[in-house]
Amino acid sequence: MPCQSNEELESILLEAKQYTSEGKVADYIPALSKANPDDLSVAIFHPDGTCYSAGCIQEKITLQSISKVITLALALMESGEEYVFSKVGYEPTGDPFNSIVKLEMSNPSKPLNPMINAGALAVTHMIKGNSVEERFRKIIDFVKRLSGNEEISYSAEVAKSEFETSHLNRALCFFMKQHGIINEDVEELLDLYTKQCSIEVNCLDLARIGIVFALNGKEPITNKQLMPAQVARICKTFMVTCGMYNASGEFAVRVGIPAKSGVAGGILGAVPNRFGIGISGPALDDKGNSVAGLKLLEILASKYELSMF
Ligand code: DON
Repeated sequence: MPCQSNEELESILLEAKQYTSEGKVADYIPALSKANPDDLSVAIFHPDGTCYSAGCIQEKITLQSISKVITLALALMESGEEYVFSKVGYEPTGDPFNSIVKLEMSNPSKPLNPMINAGALAVTHMIKGNSVEERFRKIIDFVKRLSGNEEISYSAEVAKSEFETSHLNRALCFFMKQHGIINEDVEELLDLYTKQCSIEVNCLDLARIGIVFALNGKEPITNKQLMPAQVARICKTFMVTCGMYNASGEFAVRVGIPAKSGVAGGILGAVPNRFGIGISGPALDDKGNSVAGLKLLEILASKYELSMF
């Protein structure tokens, strides 16, 4: 069933689009600076396969931090809760996503949660396999299953651009290696992590992934269990407490749904038992969240009473 353009959604998109001029595309990963700050698109995917969209849904972006919730699900499925949370904590930080400060201040020195860069690097480290290629194949295959899109691939250009400039993430890795949180070669871990962040999706793919979380791990239409309900529940909880970084509290008040953002401008939303939402809008606010995407979700949340709270 193709995703249908929807008039009501188009008018909400138009309203939110005015806010793109208040944001800036990310440029600390040089390849991301090529994105068009005016782009904005949205898709909403329902359990029966009905899909509504607005804007240019073909526009692709890289997952960036949205991949963190996917690798968390995979690590929980592979290694179990006890192991995962022996290496990474449960608590929000209130700091920017790439901050190193709490890593040194917490005792034992483990990342506070899996949604900040340090925690996500620790989680990616857990993905098992004999080589970076094998581990990356596992991650991208999982993204294909969750999105129902066999054509998903990654941008080698964005991966290389981040790999070559990722000094802060390298520092986080070395710090964690010193403290026994990770024990692999840092360059290999960064190779895998930058590739996972560079997986390309459009807003429809994000909405499809979102609905799997919304349906407690079940694929829409077929009802096939793609991840255990408990894994989906844990991921959604982190999306609420840390999914929008140090804007998660305000987002919970204004929108009130589990969501995860990325610096390429994507937002994945999971409205429990109702639908998945995917947004692509590369202009970001100062905390790294899509500025018009947030506005769009705010409008949707008040119009359709989406808040869980
Ligand atoms: O590690 C990084 O900095 C990026 N690959 C991902 C960061 C990100 O998406 C934060 N999002 N708002």
